[in-house]
Amino acid sequence: MVARVVDLRSDTVTRPDRPMLEAMVAAEVGDDVLGDDPTVKELERRYAEIVGKEAALFTPSGTMGNQVAVAAWTSGGDEIILGREAHIIEYEYGAPGFLARVLTREVPVVEGAPDPDEVRKRYKSGEFHSSRTSLICLENTHNRLGGIVPNQGIFRALRAFADEHGVKIHLDGARLWNASVATGKPMAELASVGDSVMSCLSKGLGCPIGSILAGPGDFIKRAHRLRKICGGGMRQVGILAAAGLYAIEHNWRRMAEDHEKAQRIAKTLAATPWAGIDPADVHTNIVIPVLEGVASQRVVEGAAERGVRFFPFGEDKIRLVTHRDVSFDDVGYACDVLSRLRF
Ligand SMILES: Cc1ncc(COP(=O)(O)O)c(C=O)c1O
Repeated sequence: MVARVVDLRSDTVTRPDRPMLEAMVAAEVGDDVLGDDPTVKELERRYAEIVGKEAALFTPSGTMGNQVAVAAWTSGGDEIILGREAHIIEYEYGAPGFLARVLTREVPVVEGAPDPDEVRKRYKSGEFHSSRTSLICLENTHNRLGGIVPNQGIFRALRAFADEHGVKIHLDGARLWNASVATGKPMAELASVGDSVMSCLSKGLGCPIGSILAGPGDFIKRAHRLRKICGGGMRQVGILAAAGLYAIEHNWRRMAEDHEKAQRIAKTLAATPWAGIDPADVHTNIVIPVLEGVASQRVVEGAAERGVRFFPFGEDKIRLVTHRDVSFDDVGYACDVLSRLRF
């Protein structure tokens, strides 16, 4: 038995606190499949306003938000372009092929963004003998690349390319909240690269369940239909929307603390003989050091023996994620444990 547990596996481990639960209990609800839930409508209105889009749609998960977006922007047989390491490719179980019947084309990534030269090479106009590229997917912050905020200049170049060729852009902004806090840029500015954007409520914002997708009104109508097809039409879901509204009000701006905690962990790791990381490369709440001379599983097990939990990330990396349910004191303890590990 370890005396203390510090869970750095993911920001999805956050649990609703008492004030959030009270907001959920107090929510005015109705049957959202019949369009009767005022709290869901308010959350959708609020998110659309924050990201500067016409309309929004609550979804049970980020995966469903991304996938209804992919299906709503494409037709079967189209191609979509993504950067390597994109969540939509790595962790969504082949859903673009399975649900939207599109082919995913992966291109190398530069500073968190698909390389525009490679996107240009991969693009297909849909003329005789070729399928049509209808969508580019971007990610901010970038999960597998260590929570970085991608280069916004490259994002703008991709936007210009998309406009030139009539291609749509979907932004997987599961952690766009963190990007906004880290850069000081409004969500609407960061989301403007995308025709659509999805953000999660269930990660650093601390909600138990839920994500939300925004875009033009006709796109959201198609996404609404597709959400129903996926079984995502829910009834008195205002209970969850109330958690989202509460979190946007109370848990968003404090993410700066999570970023500070990640910096402490990165600096501690940089000072060990077994992990390499430049704290300047840690932009938000995800820390992914490269290991030197030790396998990730050994590091994970060594830390877990002392109650500090995180995931291996392939053979030679580990991933640690800070969030509101680990205090600065917990992070101090975790840093102490990490700095004492020897292999
Ligand atoms: C970048 C990114 N996109 C999408 C998702 C999917 O969210 P969910 O787990 O709610 O399906 C995640 C979850 O970790 C993520 O990190």
